[in-house]
Amino acid sequence: MDPAYGVADLVSAAEGDGMRIVGVLATHHHPDHVGGSMMGHSIEGLGELLGHMSVPVHAHRDEVPLIARTTGLDLSDMVGHFSGDELVVGGLEVEMLHTPGHTPGSQCFLVEGMLVAGDTLFLEGCGRTDLPGSDAGAMYDSLQKLAGLPESTVIYPGHRYSVASAATLEAVKEINMVFKPRTKDAWLTLFR
Ligand SMILES: [Fe+2]
Repeated sequence: MDPAYGVADLVSAAEGDGMRIVGVLATHHHPDHVGGSMMGHSIEGLGELLGHMSVPVHAHRDEVPLIARTTGLDLSDMVGHFSGDELVVGGLEVEMLHTPGHTPGSQCFLVEGMLVAGDTLFLEGCGRTDLPGSDAGAMYDSLQKLAGLPESTVIYPGHRYSVASAATLEAVKEINMVFKPRTKDAWLTLFR
């Protein structure tokens, strides 16, 4: 998922674990997740990975053109998905949940009671909603959708802005300010 920075290291780590990379699951198009140019720096990502191997990149359909723009990939390198689409990878079912807000086509991945949350939900806080293409109202709706998952779901955020690297949804709801406002209007006054 989200191959960025040391791509050769990621490939050899997978090989070291006896795994074969058969595709990429992309949460969203930002260069720190899929590679590209960010603030004058070039970050390794999908371009380098696809130089090593030919595998499909699975993204939400709304994010596909943005990933193409960020990484220089061809549209034909990507598979655009709808929310609720499932992939079976090595016997594991991966469900894609569209969670717009940070970006239009941000998505999370639900895998056996674990949620890979990208930049939608961190253990403390959520992804920025003041960037080009962000939508604070959509983010509220996406967070409400995630809040409806089973309380035992273990959240794995795309950035570690907290001491722990993962926590149950129940614990995240307890500590995370993004779940405190009771209404969308109240949320927007705090997080827009
Ligand atoms: Fe991001």
